[in-house]
Amino acid sequence: MGDQVSALTRRLSADAAERLARSSGAEASARVLEPAAAVTPVPATRDPAAKGRHLEVCRTEAVEYCKRTGLESFEFRNQALPELSLRELDISTRLGPWHLPTPLMIAPMTGGTPEGLALNRLYAVAAERFGLAMGVGSQRVGIEHPDRARWYRVRDVAPSILLFANIGAGQLARGWGCAEALKAVQMIEADALFVHFNPVQEAVQGGDRDFRDIAKRLATLCGDLASEGIPVFAREVCFGLSEDAARRLVECGVAGLDCSGAGGTSWAKVEAFCAKTPRRRAMGLRFGEWGIPTARSIRNVRRASSGIPLIASGGLRTGIDLAKVLALGADVGAMARPFLLQASESEAALHAFIEDLLDELRICMFGSGAGSVAALRERLDPVSPSVAGDI
Ligand SMILES: Cc1cc2nc3c(=O)[nH]c(=O)nc-3n(C[C@H](O)[C@H](O)[C@H](O)COP(=O)(O)O)c2cc1C
Repeated sequence: MGDQVSALTRRLSADAAERLARSSGAEASARVLEPAAAVTPVPATRDPAAKGRHLEVCRTEAVEYCKRTGLESFEFRNQALPELSLRELDISTRLGPWHLPTPLMIAPMTGGTPEGLALNRLYAVAAERFGLAMGVGSQRVGIEHPDRARWYRVRDVAPSILLFANIGAGQLARGWGCAEALKAVQMIEADALFVHFNPVQEAVQGGDRDFRDIAKRLATLCGDLASEGIPVFAREVCFGLSEDAARRLVECGVAGLDCSGAGGTSWAKVEAFCAKTPRRRAMGLRFGEWGIPTARSIRNVRRASSGIPLIASGGLRTGIDLAKVLALGADVGAMARPFLLQASESEAALHAFIEDLLDELRICMFGSGAGSVAALRERLDPVSPSVAGDI
């Protein structure tokens, strides 16, 4: 499996390098200065190749925000007398109805192509081994092209993990509902469903741009799926949640949230590098820094609801970042691009990376005297007194 992915990666990297060379230098800078794109027709179905381009671009291009997550504004209070054993710390967590062995998740990324399946299966094996939760990427392709549904399935290699299916709010706005959501869940034998909200990503790429009545549609979906025993979580994809958005999502009846904020992968930048025209590319780059940083996004959700099950993602890069999002009030921390980069290297690299993340989390707990994930919450200080108010 690892070899298969590495071979794919090598091939994709060569293509990407060629494209990079074509679009580099003066020609690229000139493009960025062109005027904004005109409105183009909305594609009726998702081009299955689009997900492949996202992977390639995320591996090879400068897709990260320049601005930071806000996590750097906090530090753990050192505890010189922890009265704990590093080996016996409890890193388990609760996320709604689930008790998870670790507070770490592989955020939704891919599926629906042979390469997507190969990656998801690498992720799933690692998730099963280390007790991580996991989500697959948008299943739009699998629902619109049923012959591709098999390229999302990972349950056989990860029988015990918490697994999320995934559809887009854009599809809900176009009329998808309970039937399509259940297809997504059944396709991968998922425990729960993510509905991803990404209006800015859709707008810059010329995708779904009509989100009217979206709250009403989400509320109906939450009710319908609750009667089937399927919890619905709403998630951003990197642009963060305001307090108002979090409150409205909670009012819709979501079972949980992923407040994916700015500071890591910028989906406006990814779409810029995937753009088919220079004008679309310029528009993506102009919105490249749009978004609420992850630390503030967590705070916003917790102001809206102290108890809603909360996953935090967007720019987590180390086990210290993971510990900080837990200390700020998340129940689980999730990462996307770092896992893609490691899995593209090798299966061994992915596993070593996860081991390091969990070790770093344990060291944060040990060094701050927190015996459990819940105990981390009182151990974080702003680096300067003014910061707490800013975030
Ligand atoms: C290659 C790739 C593909 C992604 N595809 C999806 C997707 O299909 N659905 C979704 O909800 N989020 C998707 N995401 C967004 C991530 O789940 C995450 O919210 C975002 O990348 C921020 O996390 P990061 O900074 O750790 O990458 C994708 C991320 C990556 C890197």
